[in-house]
Amino acid sequence: MSLYKKLGLVNTRKMFEKAMQGKYAVPAYNFNNMEQLQAIIVACVETSSPVILQVSSGARKYANKTLLRYMAEGAIAMMQELAKEKGVNTIPLALHLDHGDTFELCKSCIETGFSSVMIDGSHHSFEKNIELTKRVVEFAHEHEVTVEGELGVLAGIEDDVVAETSTYTHPEQVVEFVKKTGVDSLAISIGTSHGAYKFKPQQCTKNANGVYVPPELRFDILEQIEVKIPGFAIVLHGASSVPMDAVKIINDNYGDIRDSVGIPEEQLRRAARSAVCKINIDSDGRLWMTAAIRKCLKEKPTEFDPRKYLGPAREALVSMYKHKNEYVLGSAGQA
Ligand code: G3H
Ligand code: 13P
Ligand code: ZN
Repeated sequence: MSLYKKLGLVNTRKMFEKAMQGKYAVPAYNFNNMEQLQAIIVACVETSSPVILQVSSGARKYANKTLLRYMAEGAIAMMQELAKEKGVNTIPLALHLDHGDTFELCKSCIETGFSSVMIDGSHHSFEKNIELTKRVVEFAHEHEVTVEGELGVLAGIEDDVVAETSTYTHPEQVVEFVKKTGVDSLAISIGTSHGAYKFKPQQCTKNANGVYVPPELRFDILEQIEVKIPGFAIVLHGASSVPMDAVKIINDNYGDIRDSVGIPEEQLRRAARSAVCKINIDSDGRLWMTAAIRKCLKEKPTEFDPRKYLGPAREALVSMYKHKNEYVLGSAGQA
């Protein structure tokens, strides 16, 4: 039996089938430390949402890959205990490698209990991307691990790779890519980007409430892709909304985050109702965590117990994840 099954994790296959039918998206939240992981589990149990625990190679380096794997194992036990205490159902948990860039990294994750991996060959040529992705799929499927591939390049920073501008996914390439590689889901580029600086205010219009509204995502490309590969699970990366409330708290408490505009929640809601079955969110968690810590430390300059500022940061994360599940991705109540 595959290691992840022994641990109590699931791969993404059923999750995506249900999400496609139910017209919602499964949240994929990144974690690097205990507080982020606790918050994801608490929020997803309380909203009864399936969830993909997402780990980047940077997270593996930061937290130690062995410890991270045991943290995920601990998260399953915590989730079961919490569900029992609250008298609610347990939730499906997948452990996913975010932006895997080599076969060796994907293999290492699969062998240590991940139930899903992303092989991101989007920076390579189309042919090289197919070759690399196919190799990972062959190995992963022997272990019943699901694989996410990527076509098109998002602007922004992923680990050490920086792309200045987006290259949208070419709908005419998706059929060949999916057929030749055997991937289970496909990340596409339709105008989202990584990090907190997705759009500049100059690229946006201001609405009646004084909020910057960026140009709409390329739903036309998404629709063309859906026609080419009907019923196939699509993934959106770079889907943080960069909440102005969090940015304001950061800036009011000695921080300096300027001119950052994210993806409006209404557009994510629209995407979640389509073939988009997985939505990746990392930066919004970073912003809320930073906001809560900065506020605490400014208000209580004598405080030096990390629990006193990491605790409120964890609470802020729980609220944010619950909000996303309930009002943005529509995954609440779908576990
Ligand atoms: O897409 C990138 C994710 O937000 C992970 O970021 O590589 O800094 O851990 P990271
Ligand atoms: P954000 O930076 O928009 O949160 O995107 C995260 C992501 O795509 C992780 O793979
Ligand atoms: Zn990403």
